[in-house]
Amino acid sequence: MRNPANDPGPTSYEAELRRHNEVLRRACGVQVDEHVLDIGCGAGETTREAARIARSGSALGVDVSARAIERARELAQAEGLGNVAFECADAQVHSFPQERFDLVTSRFGTMFFADPVAAFTNIGRALRPSGRLVMMVWQSHERNEWDVAIHHALETVDEKQGPDPFSLADPASVKQILTDAGFTDVNFTDVHEPVYYGHDVDAALAWISGFTCTSETLRRLDATAATRAIGRLREMLAAHSTDDGVWFDSRAWIVTAHRP
Ligand SMILES: C[S@@+](CC[C@H](N)C(=O)[O-])C[C@H]1O[C@@H](n2cnc3c(N)ncnc32)[C@H](O)[C@@H]1O
Repeated sequence: MRNPANDPGPTSYEAELRRHNEVLRRACGVQVDEHVLDIGCGAGETTREAARIARSGSALGVDVSARAIERARELAQAEGLGNVAFECADAQVHSFPQERFDLVTSRFGTMFFADPVAAFTNIGRALRPSGRLVMMVWQSHERNEWDVAIHHALETVDEKQGPDPFSLADPASVKQILTDAGFTDVNFTDVHEPVYYGHDVDAALAWISGFTCTSETLRRLDATAATRAIGRLREMLAAHSTDDGVWFDSRAWIVTAHRP
């Protein structure tokens, strides 16, 4: 039987990551007077959340997608938040105010830089001395059941498509990147929480059909092969369907670091 307490509601990015977000919020520990920068903020859920807590401070969300920033502004305005702002920019090269922020955070928005050392160097300059970085990134493909299962069903196990969401999965290389970018005290916390894809197989299929790997693969197949692939996706989703919806195991890191 469905337990409403376990039900994140209709599928959305917020619902998918509800459990992760609770962990990230605790790790960020935003204080009432802090100034927060949210990198790759998307529609700004985490930025708005930071702004709500930092009532005497502020939150700035930055994303390279104009559509996401438009949506983020609409949602913040609808909520009447006066201490939040959004900018459409590439965080790797954007001219942030220097030494302005107490905390730089990101929920899965820092894995897509063309030059990670340049990007984190640029972002680090926006932090005040002793300011902190708290970001959530995916662990490797192999440790993320959702990605393994989708690629297996699509029969694209070894194919890389588009930007790599697992580019910051390896702690040794991330430590090197952040150290080269001028950060210290780099630490990793294992986050083992499931992702939610919807109430039932139909909702979950509609959701994962929006993933780049799924849409690109289905687009390349002829009609018969696409129908078969959708059948395999349905079977795979049905195997993960519970009374509380469709869930997959996942592994992420919370990476923390400081500016000296
Ligand atoms: C997986 S989404 C996460 C969105 C948001 N953090 C959330 O959790 O709802 C990754 C986001 O990073 C943004 N992004 C990718 N590269 C970026 C860059 N160089 N500068 C700013 N944003 C970037 C994308 O546009 C996308 O909105």
